[in-house]
Amino acid sequence: MGSGPIELCVKAGQKIAICTCGKSEDGRCNGSHVGTDKLPVIYDAQKDETLYVCGCTNTCGKPFCDGSHSK
Ligand code: FES
Repeated sequence: MGSGPIELCVKAGQKIAICTCGKSEDGRCNGSHVGTDKLPVIYDAQKDETLYVCGCTNTCGKPFCDGSHSK
């Protein structure tokens, strides 16, 4: 069982790079994926919202948590 989702608050109009490699602790790409085969997903927030970013890399709904960490 891997780690659960990371909560990420975004504001309307914000564009962020969401980590998919599991190495970022806050869910945002910080360049730690270099050397892996993973790349961040660019997300354009349309509204103020809370995202649940996959922290275990097993999700089928990249970059978001789909519950795979508990399987
Ligand atoms: S640090 Fe994880 S995708 Fe960039």
